[in-house]
Amino acid sequence: MESKYSDDEIKLNKSVLKLINIGKLVTYNNKSQVIDIIQDTQILIKEGRIDTLDKNIPGEYQTFDCGGKLITPGFVDPHTHPVFLNGREEEFGLRLRGATYQEIAEKGGGINSSIEGVRNASIEELVNVVSKRMDRFLKLGTTTIEAKSGYGLDVDSELKSLTVLDIVNKNHPIDIIPTFLGAHSIPPEYKSNAEGYVDLLCNELIPAVAEQGIAKYCDVFCENGYFDVKQSRRILNTAKEFGLIPRLHADEFEDSGAAELAAEIGAVSADHLMAVSNEGIKKMANANVIATLLPGTTFFLGSKNYAPIKKLIEVGVEIALATDFNPGSCHIQSMPFIISLACIYLGISVEEALLASTYNSAKTLQLENEVGSIEVGKKADLIIWDLENLIEIPYNVTDVPIQKVMKNGTFIN
Ligand code: NIG
Ligand code: FE
Repeated sequence: MESKYSDDEIKLNKSVLKLINIGKLVTYNNKSQVIDIIQDTQILIKEGRIDTLDKNIPGEYQTFDCGGKLITPGFVDPHTHPVFLNGREEEFGLRLRGATYQEIAEKGGGINSSIEGVRNASIEELVNVVSKRMDRFLKLGTTTIEAKSGYGLDVDSELKSLTVLDIVNKNHPIDIIPTFLGAHSIPPEYKSNAEGYVDLLCNELIPAVAEQGIAKYCDVFCENGYFDVKQSRRILNTAKEFGLIPRLHADEFEDSGAAELAAEIGAVSADHLMAVSNEGIKKMANANVIATLLPGTTFFLGSKNYAPIKKLIEVGVEIALATDFNPGSCHIQSMPFIISLACIYLGISVEEALLASTYNSAKTLQLENEVGSIEVGKKADLIIWDLENLIEIPYNVTDVPIQKVMKNGTFIN
């Protein structure tokens, strides 16, 4: 694929740059373990990483004047489904006329209606649509993104989806962390033989994905009508044997004991949790499973049942936020908008929302030493806003006043 970025621009900027005239730098600080608001600092960036943070950094360097504005880390979006061909806007229309997500799925819509597109598409076609989606994510300030397969659901199409993610990752400035989600739905050819599909996952798909070597994580949609706890346990234990790290779509519509399973198998993260039980919450806390909340999905589905964040925080579960970008239940790519939803509907502070969208979300990808905060030694992934204060991010709701996004020390726009 012809890349629009030069080699240096893609992953590493070898030059040195000093950011000056920063109004406020707001970032999680791993030493003090709080969100810091630093005024009057400069940032020296060398070879794509944060080299120095100080009031007056001596030395003659190329400078960039931030105009007295706000700087935050780039967003880390830890839950997305970008490998699909076409949108499913007709389903959105059906929902506006009263159908539910589950009813549409039962009639052959939902996840399964995206399978044909992926199975019939060439790698080039998919690379093209996924790259465009990544351009948009980066523009909206997301500098690292988890991305799942899960609309192929046979050996060739799942491996193809992961290959697409690998190609885009190598040719695009954004960092993509791939997850295998072969257990997204029971494909039509296994409609009356769900166990047969679980066998295929464990005996063929997971070994093939491990051999391909692209995916880092394995996810399962553990939910009534998709994969039950017993099947999910078998799939994730097999994935673990093959070196894939488990994460889970858990208790999205109904409590099916998925949060408990996440704790039992040591998943890094349990996601959605709109219907999680008190017992599941307790077990997640004891096993240090991070809760990745997806308020965009609740909003997009027109539901009022946001995840019980207060209960999760009360018992010490750490919170991450993600878009859940996908063609069906959440066609939202903007982490700033997710922050607005988290503040308005989950009722957390903007500082908590920033932590959940940067450092904690990096933690669910085991990348918190590389990205997710602006600290010496980490990747220079940051956003220069056209704003002065953090609260203006959710206040602007759908407007995204970003001046510049820097990825690996390079401005991308
Ligand atoms: O996270 N819940 C499962 N998967 C997606 C929906 C995917 C789709 O509808 O295409 C989700 O909401
Ligand atoms: Fe999802």
